[in-house]
Amino acid sequence: MIYVLQHKKLRVQRPQHLKSLIPSKDLVFGRQFTDHMLNIQWSAENGWSDPLIQPYGKISLDPSAMVFHYSFECFEGLKAYKDKNGKIRLFRPDMNMKRFKKSAARISLPDFNGEELLECIKELIRLEERWIPVERGYSLYIRPTLIGTQESLGVNSTGRALLFVICSPVGPYYKTGFSAVRLLATTEYVRAWPGGTGDAKIGGNYAPCVKPQIDASKKGYHQNLWLFGENDELTEVGTMNCFVLLKNELGETELVTPPLDGSILAGVTRDSILSLARSWNEFKVSERKITMPEVVKAAEDGRLIEMFGSGTACIVSPIEGIYYRGQNLKVPLDPNDASSQAGPVTRRFADTLLGIQYGEIPHEWSIIL
Ligand code: COI
Repeated sequence: MIYVLQHKKLRVQRPQHLKSLIPSKDLVFGRQFTDHMLNIQWSAENGWSDPLIQPYGKISLDPSAMVFHYSFECFEGLKAYKDKNGKIRLFRPDMNMKRFKKSAARISLPDFNGEELLECIKELIRLEERWIPVERGYSLYIRPTLIGTQESLGVNSTGRALLFVICSPVGPYYKTGFSAVRLLATTEYVRAWPGGTGDAKIGGNYAPCVKPQIDASKKGYHQNLWLFGENDELTEVGTMNCFVLLKNELGETELVTPPLDGSILAGVTRDSILSLARSWNEFKVSERKITMPEVVKAAEDGRLIEMFGSGTACIVSPIEGIYYRGQNLKVPLDPNDASSQAGPVTRRFADTLLGIQYGEIPHEWSIIL
């Protein structure tokens, strides 16, 4: 009998002692974890086990488990927020479930019912309610993860898998908070390419980007600006999607982000920014290729207005400069406020998204638990 993942089969095992909460000021992104975790096992013979919420703790795996050898791992990142009425909110979690399934399929990990999984995750979050920080900019980061656990060195699909979900109370992604970053436009390494896995949220996409990130940081840059192709197309910024606001050659104000061509991660924040921008209807909104020479030309002509990265972890990350092939490009921040760390449009996206996430701006994207 092959079993499907079912929320109604969820069982809860509580720890003997609860951990002490950590003051929000001491939170470091992704370093502190809550009391429980969700654990669901899969095997080719039996399908999905009954979901179990158990005390947070170590996982024991055989050294031959496929995750250790061939990177059978995909993950998601979403956040739970506490609103001013004490209600717990999630932001478009259905999109994370859809992407999680897609990432799993790309690396031959088993499929599951995303709605049932989300119901299990909601139970976990309810149990961890005391860990959700109340301060604005703080939240509970939720990390669903799926790994191949078959004990085998053969390069093949896995007959066993483990889906687990852990939670981490977090503050702003960067220690510096909402402040503009400087990018190194990376020409030596490529993050993703056509036909590759750039649109899947798999661990294998992240580890190779750390050395370039360290190299960039040694040179005084916060993040890599990932380029692709002989025309140096912009793709992503660090682990974020990338947006450029400019006045185009026709004199139109245009917000540009690279298209979902298979090498760009379909960010939930990216999609939300595009929807908001289209609903504002104040400037042209384009998902199209944009190259560094186009950005340089716009900057030289005084047509570059703002640039920012977007992601669940940081929400919106303003960009103040790019080093590109021997040239230091200055990206404008706020023309009316020299001390501002973000341009007005970047700030408006950040404020609107935060407002929706914390339930201050009513919106169907914000789900009350
Ligand atoms: C995000 O911005 O949500 C990310 O994917 C970053 C994460 C890998 C820490």
